[in-house]
Amino acid sequence: MSDLKGKSVIISGTGSYTPPKILTNDDLSAIVDTSDEWIRTRTGIRERRIAAEEETTSDMAANAAREAIRNSGLKIEDIGLIVVGTVTPDMPFPNTACFVQKKLGLGKVPAFDIEAACSGFIYAMNVARGLMLVNNIQHALVIGAEKLSSITNWEDRTTCVLFGDGAGAVVLSLDEREDIGILNVQLGADGTETDILCVPGGGSASPYTVETIERSLHKIHMQGNQVFKHAVRVMCQSATEVVEGAGLRTEDVDLVVPHQANTRIIEALATRLNIGMERFKINLDRYGNTSAASIPIALDEAWRNGRIGSGDNVLMVAFGGGLTWAGALVRWP
Ligand SMILES: CC(C)(COP(=O)(O)OP(=O)(O)OC[C@H]1O[C@@H](n2cnc3c(N)ncnc32)[C@H](O)[C@@H]1OP(=O)(O)O)[C@@H](O)C(=O)NCCC(=O)NCCS
Repeated sequence: MSDLKGKSVIISGTGSYTPPKILTNDDLSAIVDTSDEWIRTRTGIRERRIAAEEETTSDMAANAAREAIRNSGLKIEDIGLIVVGTVTPDMPFPNTACFVQKKLGLGKVPAFDIEAACSGFIYAMNVARGLMLVNNIQHALVIGAEKLSSITNWEDRTTCVLFGDGAGAVVLSLDEREDIGILNVQLGADGTETDILCVPGGGSASPYTVETIERSLHKIHMQGNQVFKHAVRVMCQSATEVVEGAGLRTEDVDLVVPHQANTRIIEALATRLNIGMERFKINLDRYGNTSAASIPIALDEAWRNGRIGSGDNVLMVAFGGGLTWAGALVRWP
C-alpha cells in the first residue's frame, strides 16, 4: 500500500459522446399523448439523443473515453484502471468496462462497473480515486454511459419523455499538489425507497418470463412526484455537506454541474443553496436525463465552452434510483 499523504487525484481530461439521432418533443407527441409545451414547462427538456439500434453503451463509452484521453494529453496505454457507471450495461455480464477495455485496445488493467443509477458517475469517480491512492495507479478512466432508450417504456408518457442516451468520461490522475483535484466527496443511499424508481423485472427477484415482458417490467418504472420531492431534499443536503466538508462556502463555488433531470429540480436546488442559476451548467434541454452520463457530459461541455478555468471550484451533485445521492467538490488543476 502506498503512502496516501501528499497525494491528490485530479481531473486531467474530459470527453463526451452523444449519438447523432435527435428525438424532439414533437416527435414524441406522435408516439404518446403529450405535447412540446407540457414537456418543456414540466421538465425543461426540448430534445434528447437516441443511440442507433446496434450502438451499445460500451461503444458510446469508448468514444467518450478516447476524447478524454486525448484531452488529457496522455496515451491509451497510460491508463491503469477503468470504472464505468451505468444502469444499461451491454449485457448483465461481463461488465461494460471490459468491453470498453477491448474497444480501446488497452492492456489487462482492472475494469468494472458501478451501479448507483444517476449518482453512478460520482460513485465511480470516488471508487476509482480510492483505488488510485491505495494501489498507486497513476491514471484512471471514469465513465458514465447509458443507453436508456433500451429500458424506456415507449408507451408510458410519464417516463418516456424524460430520458436520453450518451456517454461522458474523465481521466483521473495522481498529483503531488494537495490543494487541487477532488477535495471532497459525499455519498449516500436510502434503501427504503427502492420502489419509487426502478426496473422491477429481469433480475433475480423477477427473472424474465413472457408475463414480465408483457407487463413491461424490464422497463423503467417511476413515481415522478415522489422522486421529485426526495431529489430536491437530498441534492441540497449533499451539496451543502460536500462544500462544508471541503472547508468552503457556497459563495466559493464557481460552477455547479448538477445531474440533468429536470430544470425545476435544479431551480429549487439553486434557491435553497442561494447560488444564482448563472453558476449552474444546464444542458438537459438538449439531452434529457442520461442518468450516469449526465454529469460527465455536462462537465465536458462546460470545459469545452471555457466555463471552467484553473483553480475553479466545481460542485457536482446527483441523485437517482436506490435512492442514491452523491456530491463532489473538485478544484480544477
Ligand atoms: C415526471 C414529472 C415531470 C411529472 O411532473 P408533475 O408535475 O409531477 O406531474 P404529475 O406526475 O403530477 O402529472 C400531472 C398530470 O400530467 C399528466 N402527464 C404525465 N406525463 C405527461 C406527459 N408526458 N404529457 C402530458 N401529460 C402528462 C399526468 O397523467 C397527470 O395528469 P392527471 O392530472 O390528469 O392525472 C416530475 O414529477 C418529475 O420530474 N419528477 C422527477 C423525475 C426524475 O427526475 N426522475 C429521474 C430521477 S434520476
